[in-house]
Formats: sequence, structure tokens, C-alpha cells
Amino acid sequence: MTLLRGIAISCIEIHDNGLTEYGSIPPSCWPFQVTRFGLYRKVSLQYLTEFCSMKAYIITGPTSGIGYATALELAKHGVIILVGRNRDKLTRVQTTIEAAGQKAVPVVCDISDMKSVSNAARQIVSLGLPVAGLLNNAGIMPAKPSKTTQGWDSTFATNHLGPFVLTERLTSHLPEGANIVFVASAIEDPERRPAKIMGMKGGRYISAEASARGEWKAGGSKMPGIDAYATSKQCILASAMAFAREDRRLHYNAVEPGITRGTNLGGESTNAFLRFLFGHLMAIVPPFSKYSSTPKKSAKVITGILTDTSGKTGIYFDEKGRPMLGSELVRDTAFQDRVVAETRTLLSTMNYG
Ligand SMILES: NC(=O)c1ccc[n+]([C@@H]2O[C@H](COP(=O)([O-])OP(=O)(O)OC[C@H]3O[C@@H](n4cnc5c(N)ncnc54)[C@H](OP(=O)(O)O)[C@@H]3O)[C@@H](O)[C@H]2O)c1
Repeated sequence: MTLLRGIAISCIEIHDNGLTEYGSIPPSCWPFQVTRFGLYRKVSLQYLTEFCSMKAYIITGPTSGIGYATALELAKHGVIILVGRNRDKLTRVQTTIEAAGQKAVPVVCDISDMKSVSNAARQIVSLGLPVAGLLNNAGIMPAKPSKTTQGWDSTFATNHLGPFVLTERLTSHLPEGANIVFVASAIEDPERRPAKIMGMKGGRYISAEASARGEWKAGGSKMPGIDAYATSKQCILASAMAFAREDRRLHYNAVEPGITRGTNLGGESTNAFLRFLFGHLMAIVPPFSKYSSTPKKSAKVITGILTDTSGKTGIYFDEKGRPMLGSELVRDTAFQDRVVAETRTLLSTMNYG
């Protein structure tokens, strides 16, 4: 272990329950194997040097759907830091990436739990990898409301608070010009045609505090879970645009991946109709089919944005990678600043480390 500590990689892994004595780079990537007979060299130091000098990309929610397809696509460009809540699922994604001769590091994190997000950010920083991009992709759309460890609405915490905290905890550690991308949803816009036809009413923001309690502006959608989902996505999109104005050192963009079939979104829901609707029907029936996509297509678009070096910032991209407009409200800079300020105030009320 002393030998490993001497190499230019932090060898302390931070878990939810504190510090452990293992390397941040997981055992499968160590250049030495530890056995009961001692240390033996597994791979060359060249491997280690390569690992440390490759660009790295962080992806939340890489275990299914859009995030999984993006992890595989992005692995062609560098080391992937896989951030997810289930270690076994992360290991399976890591194994798939490594079987293709690429590199990945798992970091266990429940993005709806701010303590876990905070620990994950520390763990990512301790890896010491040159992070070129962060993709805030993990998201949920449950029909039934539930509460997180902090007692906050799960949809709001997963889709807005978690990515907000992860981003704010990492930004000062990212090199100039790094790309931060947020996976949003056009459902936030009450005027978006497919959403309007479905009777969705867009984001229903009252305040960050009210959202955390699971309260939305009256007169919303009759579809269960949609007001929570649309509001959380409106908040993270507004924050992305505010961050882009606040911080010119890094690049902040958002993407609407399109109506993407074959993912597990809405799968947490017990509502079979919603599952069918978002899983299949909307992707093939006009006018919804116009906005249809697949995880592989979304992965190409997102990878393009994450690896872009032209300095684009503050842009909301559609499923084809073209700039698009969000709702009138989300484009209002006063609203964007209000969401960020209220979110920071809400988060400051909770000591999560
Ligand atoms: N599919 C669409 O039509 C569509 C349209 C617009 C926007 N989006 C957005 O695209 C993103 C990806 O969605 P998807 O369609 O690919 O859905 P998905 O297949 O359900 O993938 C969601 C990912 O997020 C992870 N996740 C959920 N809750 C988490 C938590 N508390 N902590 C850590 N990870 C968590 C899931 O992990 P587990 O494997 O452990 O569950 C999974 O890896 C979401 O932000 C979604 O809102 C999707």
C-alpha cells in the first residue's frame, strides 16, 4: 500500500460510512495484485500512466437506458467514471466497457441522497483524473410520490437537487473548459405540442422549499407524477442556464433527448398505462414520433456535446443536437436566478457533509 501511495494516484477511497484504506482506482485497475503472498505486478506502469493521462468523463445513471448507451459511446473518448446507486449494476457496465479494451471506474452514489452525493463528489475528486466532462443523466418519473433520506420529494431530489449538488461540489475541481451537461425534458414546457396533447401543464414551480415538500402549483396535469417530473426538469434546466451565465470558466449545456423508447423511465411506476405510453406508443405515433429517439441515438448526440471543444455554453440542445428553446419561464433569467438562489438556501438548511 505504501508503494501504491507513492504513485501519483490518491489511494484513499471514501465510502458513505467514512474512509477506507483502498485505492480510489478500483482493484481491477490497480497495477498490482494484492495476494496473501504479497504484491505482484499485474500490468505495466505504462498502463497506470495512460490511465492517469486519459481524459475522464463522469456519468450519473449509467446502468440503463440513455446513460448506459452514452457510457459505452463515451468510453471511446476516455475513462468513464460510472456514478450509480447499485454496485452490481455498475460492475456489469464496467465489465462491458473493459471487455471492449476501454476503462471505467465505479462510484456508488444515490443521487437522491445529498450525503451520498457529497461523498461521491469527494471520491471522484480523490481519483485525481483529468475530468473533461460531467453528464447529469440519472433521473426518475414515478407515478407515486415518495420521500428521500432527507425527507424531500424523491423526484425533485433525484432530478434537481442531486445533480445540482454534484455539480456544485465538483466545479472548482474541474479544469477550465470542462463540459457539464444536464439531461432535461421538454415536458417542462406547457406549450410543447406533444406534452400539450397529453394534457401536461409544464413545470408547476412554487418555490424550491415547496417542491422539496412535493407541492406544485394548482391546475396541473391529471397524470400522476407528471407535475413533479416537469417541475424538477424545469428547475435543473433553469439552473444549467444560470450556471452558464455565472461561471464562464466551464461550459454548461442541457439536452432534451427526445421521446426515447427502450429505457426504464417510468418503470418505477406501477401505472402500466404510463409505462406503455412512454416506453413505446409515443415514439411511433405522430406527432410524437417526430421527437422520437433511441438510447443509441441520444448517446451519439450527448457524446458530441460532452466532447465538444468549441466552448459552447448556455445552450439547450434537442434530440438531434440542434439548439432549441425551453419554456418561456425557463428562458427568463430572473426565474433561473430565483431557482438557483432558492435551491442553495434550501440545501443550506441541511447538514449533509
Ligand atoms: N426516456 C425518455 O423518453 C426521456 C425523455 C426526456 C428526458 N429523459 C431523461 O433522460 C435521463 C435518463 O433516463 P432514461 O430514459 O434512460 O431512464 P432509465 O433507463 O430509467 O435510466 C435512469 C438511470 O438513472 C439511475 N437512477 C435513478 N435514480 C437514481 C438514484 N437515486 N441514484 C442514482 N442513480 C439513479 C438509474 O439507475 P438504476 O439502474 O439503479 O435504476 C438509471 O441508471 C433521465 O434524466 C430522464 O428524465 C428521458
